[in-house]
Amino acid sequence: MCGIFGFVSKKPVTGIGNMLQALKKLEYRGYDSTGIAVVTQKGIYSQKKAGRISKLEPFLDKKVLGSVFIGHTRWATHGKPSDKNAHPHFGCDNKIQIVHNGIIENYKSLKHELEGRGHRFKSDTDSEVFAHLVEEFLGRKNGSEIRYFEEAVRLSLKRIKGAYAFAVIHQNYPKVIIVAKNSSPLLIGLSDQAKYIASDPIALLRHTRKVIYLNDQELAIVTPDQLKISTLQNKEILRKYQEVSWSEDAVRKTGFTHFMEKEIFEEPEAVENAIRGRLIVSQGLAKLGGLESVRQKLESVKRLIITACGTAFFSGLVGEYMLEEFAGLPVEVESGSELRYKRSPFDDKSALLAVSQSGETADTLGSIKEIKKTGLLTLGLVNTVGSSIARETNAGVYNHAGPEISVASTKVFISQLAVFALLTLFLGRQRSMSKNMGKLIASELTLIPRKLRTILESSVYIKRVARKYFKYNNFLFLGRKFNYPIALEGALKLKEVSYIHAEGYGAGDMKHGPLALIDENFPSIVIAPKDSVYDKVVSNMEELKARKGKIIIITTSGNKGLDKLADEVLYIPKTIEMLTPLLTVMPLHLLAYYMGVFRGHDVDKPRNLAKSVTVE
Ligand code: M6R
Repeated sequence: MCGIFGFVSKKPVTGIGNMLQALKKLEYRGYDSTGIAVVTQKGIYSQKKAGRISKLEPFLDKKVLGSVFIGHTRWATHGKPSDKNAHPHFGCDNKIQIVHNGIIENYKSLKHELEGRGHRFKSDTDSEVFAHLVEEFLGRKNGSEIRYFEEAVRLSLKRIKGAYAFAVIHQNYPKVIIVAKNSSPLLIGLSDQAKYIASDPIALLRHTRKVIYLNDQELAIVTPDQLKISTLQNKEILRKYQEVSWSEDAVRKTGFTHFMEKEIFEEPEAVENAIRGRLIVSQGLAKLGGLESVRQKLESVKRLIITACGTAFFSGLVGEYMLEEFAGLPVEVESGSELRYKRSPFDDKSALLAVSQSGETADTLGSIKEIKKTGLLTLGLVNTVGSSIARETNAGVYNHAGPEISVASTKVFISQLAVFALLTLFLGRQRSMSKNMGKLIASELTLIPRKLRTILESSVYIKRVARKYFKYNNFLFLGRKFNYPIALEGALKLKEVSYIHAEGYGAGDMKHGPLALIDENFPSIVIAPKDSVYDKVVSNMEELKARKGKIIIITTSGNKGLDKLADEVLYIPKTIEMLTPLLTVMPLHLLAYYMGVFRGHDVDKPRNLAKSVTVE
């Protein structure tokens, strides 16, 4: 995690204001401390502080002139959030300053070695060793030739193990930033006046849309007039830039109080964007351009392994129900953090599908890399165009949901469900799904955005329910079959933004344990659309009621049969069973959001979390 931003400009500028604006766009990646460094004519000016960017701002001299700026917003891994552990980190004499996103796994032995050579460490972080390593390799070769600086960084990179995106500056090189990447994201933005570096393109949108992504184990020398990308072995690489299409409005709140609220209200649009141009309703077919190159291979796939983390993992579970029942394809869903260390046997008729909003989640990416070694076909379902997972997989489908800023994933979750419905059509029609079934799924899918908009119209009522319940300290979320993963998602979202303890469970499993928790102070939220397991879920609700449990029910509009059981009822429009998760999840997102707000939390940046988890 952590956000990195920086630039080198042709002429010296007072660029701290620009830096802070860009860093604020990256705060979603980590927000426990902030720091900046500028190469000026008098040496390096740098400041850092524990806390959010706004805490550092009053301490900065915004008139400082320089051509090289780097900044960092941190999510602590090694060393608690404090002034000394904030980035940038320095070598012994402060001439070299670095910012880092990742984890240096062998930092202890390196630190021991460097201390033996007389280096003095000032922080508890793993990152600081890198500044000392560069200093050590540079030795006395502090001339103005970039090649010495480059070589010192290259030799230092060869000594470290782990994940990194680094930006390194040196007082004697007032026009150079050296960057390097392994597992953590880093890209370079190009404009006529300056070159930029960032962890995410959203930090660059005000300045440029031309970006070049670095690949793992690559290093780049960034100056106003030159960009040299090379491997750690110094093999030069020529790479063309790509254009980022996201609008600037996509990264503004545009009248909403929080990004989370804005993004929930964008859920209908997220589904529209996911399915646009991808359905031939009259034929009951889905067109997925990103899978065309592997269409034939997909025909012979007999088993799909889905890997993902957090909310994306839950979308994978919904995908499993869809693909097994309607495409007849056996599916397993594995957490990215587990799959990479499992030694599961795969045959060549298996394929891997990685699901990720950011496309940078280290656990998911790690699993892809592990599985690729077995020669399996790898696919991505990714929102961020050009991200590591998109580049690492053989083929894939983009969500096109636009940037998601709030740490809690909402609109991209719904978009992932829409893409799973498309994938079910695509793979199902390659197998035994009838044209009629294809037509039914396709036509129902096109109606989902309109139905989501009617749920938004009841947001005032959902807010009222949230107001009534936000002081409870525990919630049980129950669902079954297609809506079992939605119970898990509802519980996760509530935990993340309101810090209320919540458990997601299969409604049928409740009697095997969690029922013991239920009393009048432990409400349950039950997802019970009129579907094939409805009667079973009603029996489960009876069991809750018999233990005096309060029940908030999400069911299909027109279903009046639950009044005796329900303390509150939230209605969703009718749709086919397979697509109900796309509707039932929206009230849960709204409930979590409002409860978080009523509890007074910063819902966009929950404590201890970061949007993109690029460390293990
Ligand atoms: O970027 P990814 O989709 O790979 O992220 C995976 C999880 O870290 C993410 O879904 C996380 O669980 C969210 N904070 C959930 O709201």
